[in-house]
Amino acid sequence: MIHIEDVSSVRAAVRDARKGALPVRFVPTMGALHAGHAALFRAARAAGGFVVASIFVNPTQFGPTEDFTRYPRTPEADAALAAEAGVDALWSPRGDELYPDGESTRISVGALAACWEGAFRPGHFDGVATIVAKLLHATSADVLYLGEKDFQQTVVLRRMVRDLLIPAEIVVVPTVREPDGLALSSRNRYLSADERRAATTISRALRGTADRAAAGERDATVLRGLLHAVIGAEPGLRLQYADVVDPATLVTVDRLDAPARAIVAAHAGSTRLIDNLALVPPTS
Ligand code: PAJ
Repeated sequence: MIHIEDVSSVRAAVRDARKGALPVRFVPTMGALHAGHAALFRAARAAGGFVVASIFVNPTQFGPTEDFTRYPRTPEADAALAAEAGVDALWSPRGDELYPDGESTRISVGALAACWEGAFRPGHFDGVATIVAKLLHATSADVLYLGEKDFQQTVVLRRMVRDLLIPAEIVVVPTVREPDGLALSSRNRYLSADERRAATTISRALRGTADRAAAGERDATVLRGLLHAVIGAEPGLRLQYADVVDPATLVTVDRLDAPARAIVAAHAGSTRLIDNLALVPPTS
């Protein structure tokens, strides 16, 4: 694995890969890597080609009161995990090169970015869309790998890639979970033992709701009520939203006539957690 910092070095590495006719598969991350990120690297590796991963804690996607400065940074462990998972080039861009003269040009995706996460984190998806567009330009990737864990991010970036005519295919990799169901996240390391226990209620609520949907419950009000009841009964969680939405438009649905998405955001202590699961009605 090569370790790269400059945009010019990324471009040179990609040019070399293309000479060998290798497709470029790109996995953007903010580091503090875990088995969820590794699943993305492995999916890219297994598909063949040249695998580029980036590690950049992007300041423009954090709100003024969010955890940008204390976001975990674990560069040595990250390099070991990336190498082990088959990354060819690990790119750690410098902030002053990605934002050469501060932040001016911004990409706004619109309605898909304004709801749910966007409502609680104003400007967040502008920051995400802008940085991912920059990274895609620098890598000229053929395939972009994203985790289902950040479901709305996949929807927003799909729209951004389409609208900006970026010639990258998007592959979404299923959420990697702890044995007790908790979705892996770089932010899980902030959790105390009690908060960690409370946090598992989120995936339990999602699982229970998906089971009810699979058993034939098509009334989205009932399914939403179940999410709220299970999460609301956990005193260690403060719910921000829990809803059942159309997976393409992110608009709340009334009935499950087709697969939908259950989405949740809640705080355990001061740590904000998000998770989601597909709700698939029985075929009959
Ligand atoms: P980060 O939170 O580091 O996540 C990088 C990628 O890993 C995202 O696509 C995310 O969905 C995926 N991921 C995180 N946890 C996962 C899990 N448990 N299972 C599967 N995939 C998981 O998302 C970001 O960084 C940033 O917003 C970024 C896209 C890099 C732009 O700055």
